[in-house]
Amino acid sequence: MLMNRVETALINSPPRRALQRYYEVPALQRLGGSLPHDARVLELGCGAGYGTELILAQFAAARVDAVDLDPAMVARARRRLAGYQGRVRLMVGDATDLRAALDAEDASYDAVFDFAIIHHVPDWRAALSEVARVLKPGGRFYFDEVTAAALATRAYRWLFDHPTEERFSGEEFLTELQHQGLRVDPRSRTHLRGHYLLGVAERPHSGQEAR
Ligand SMILES: C[S@@+](CC[C@H](N)C(=O)[O-])C[C@H]1O[C@@H](n2cnc3c(N)ncnc32)[C@H](O)[C@@H]1O
Repeated sequence: MLMNRVETALINSPPRRALQRYYEVPALQRLGGSLPHDARVLELGCGAGYGTELILAQFAAARVDAVDLDPAMVARARRRLAGYQGRVRLMVGDATDLRAALDAEDASYDAVFDFAIIHHVPDWRAALSEVARVLKPGGRFYFDEVTAAALATRAYRWLFDHPTEERFSGEEFLTELQHQGLRVDPRSRTHLRGHYLLGVAERPHSGQEAR
């Protein structure tokens, strides 16, 4: 589901970008560590490409493929990331079908990033299934999500458009990651009265069990 105008303005505002750069990214780095040299990364729901730039600059990803359902957002991201030619591929597409979106093969990415997009996807379990499919063994999923508790607040209901059914709590999101065979870092947890979830999960190497 696409963002409405209010959310588009808020998500691309200087305070939200500062939060992403100075709080979310460092927190994800502490949880998941740095990326391997030459890392190939996928970003779901890249929006205007600010998070993509942080993945390139702060995580030092070698290459980022990024997908967003909204052509207007992808156009903004293309403009923002024009200086990273050769390191970025931007596509319009759906996070629940990454083969159709960007021909994503099984086990093809060292890391997948989700900066607050999966709560926009009605079939969020299908998106997590795609994350698990495309991660290489040892690959990591870095996530920053908005939970059902936040979406139920008056502010979220009045200001923004989100799927009204099939929302997830932090616990349900983490349980589904395990169900998809990913190993969730035990430090992954919700913040601000359960409204926001920050964490990392890893696709185990064969022979290792997800827990
Ligand atoms: C809250 S915004 C986050 C954007 C960006 N990740 C950021 O943090 O600035 C959610 C984004 O997810 C995109 N989106 C919604 N549903 C999607 C889907 N099924 N597949 C891919 N992107 C989707 C929207 O178009 C929007 O750009």
